[in-house]
Amino acid sequence: MRSFSRERPSRADPVEAAAAGARFDQPTATENGAPARSYYTGRNLARAHTIEDLRRMAHRRLPAFAVEYLEGGAEEEATLVRNLAAFASWRLSPKALVDVSRRDLSVSLFGRPLPLPFAIAPTGLNGLFWRKADVLLARAAAQAGVPFIQSTMSNDRMEEVAAVPNLRHWWQLYVFGPHEIREALIARAERAGCEALVVTVDAQFYGDREWEQRRFAHPGRLTTGSILDAALHPRWALTTLSGGMPSFANDINYIPEDRRGFFESAFWIRANMDHTLDWAEVARLRKLWPRKFLIKGILNADDVERAAAIGADGAILSNHGGRQLDWTVSGLDVLPEARRRVGDRMTLLVDGGVRRGTDVLKCLALGADAALLGRATLYGLAAAGQKGVERAIDIFREEIDRDLGLLGAPSVKELGSAFLTR
Ligand SMILES: Cc1cc2nc3c(=O)[nH]c(=O)nc-3n(C[C@H](O)[C@H](O)[C@H](O)COP(=O)(O)O)c2cc1C
Repeated sequence: MRSFSRERPSRADPVEAAAAGARFDQPTATENGAPARSYYTGRNLARAHTIEDLRRMAHRRLPAFAVEYLEGGAEEEATLVRNLAAFASWRLSPKALVDVSRRDLSVSLFGRPLPLPFAIAPTGLNGLFWRKADVLLARAAAQAGVPFIQSTMSNDRMEEVAAVPNLRHWWQLYVFGPHEIREALIARAERAGCEALVVTVDAQFYGDREWEQRRFAHPGRLTTGSILDAALHPRWALTTLSGGMPSFANDINYIPEDRRGFFESAFWIRANMDHTLDWAEVARLRKLWPRKFLIKGILNADDVERAAAIGADGAILSNHGGRQLDWTVSGLDVLPEARRRVGDRMTLLVDGGVRRGTDVLKCLALGADAALLGRATLYGLAAAGQKGVERAIDIFREEIDRDLGLLGAPSVKELGSAFLTR
């Protein structure tokens, strides 16, 4: 079986690209290939030391089209590169000789304690990675006590995810089709008991993930090569397609009957996103929803203030993991100014490129209430299902805990600009 590889001709700033690449691809203590080093790609989760190991395990298990869907960024992938490099441009300034015999990783999110300073970001089509993927992600999240944000493009029914015991269940809304659809989904999320509604506003047009497109002969149909490649991944097929092709369990009834194939429905929803979506409509949705309301996909401080003004409880600073507009800033770049503008009036979450405990610490030190994990937990899922997600969460817990000790900060609540240097 082939491992995943492709040419990556990005015009992103070579310094940024190198900073991003140095995090994973170019182990720095090697010279002329010595000592020989490689990531773990076997099946023993206990041997996955880092998120990058889980990523390599996932690449090995998945067919190439699914890897492209998981990894790809839009156009030249400059935004994707920036997300990784944004973390590389901040250095940690540790404090010496602090008693760190006890370390507290918990924060407070919407008035409730959160044992770990992150949540799981909404990702659609997770059923391509594992059968019942969102139920598995939700179970792992519930065990760890962190929120799971379920996507409109989920392949599992909202109510089934809501039934996972002890889950902090948030629903992510894509605004597509006529008003009745969004209103019906919101009413359903309310009935399902979701704690928060997250309206994603950066995807009214679908970013062109060109490398993913190259896997399709035409919209809705994979190339023959991709189908053959998928057939060469029986371990993936058995654990993913054993119940048949996944479907968009929450949206399928809104899709015309002759367009309900898996990829076809995804393309139909993309083609029917509401291009008139504006602040007035988001303010109207805010009024329809009685609980916590967040806007996801904000990338400038003026918009954060505007979100506060229409009564949003939180903003998620995000460029959608580099999958939408290319050449944008990263959520992390915007965070300090956003926090300065809204003070404590608003919950600020940030995502994009979070792969390490130190990344989470940097998010918090720059003013985030918590970080969101996108691909990081998906790597765990795609490597080994629920156990893989649990391992990803454990890796973050272990790294954050150890790094707090090394940083001289007994609690994540103490993190601030004093711990950072640009
Ligand atoms: C495979 C995949 C699917 C995604 N689907 C959605 C989605 O359905 N809704 C949404 O708001 N964001 C979606 N996102 C964006 C994530 O919520 C998040 O912003 C992003 O993954 C963060 O970047 P990271 O993956 O580098 O951590 C998706 C991201 C990925 C990687």
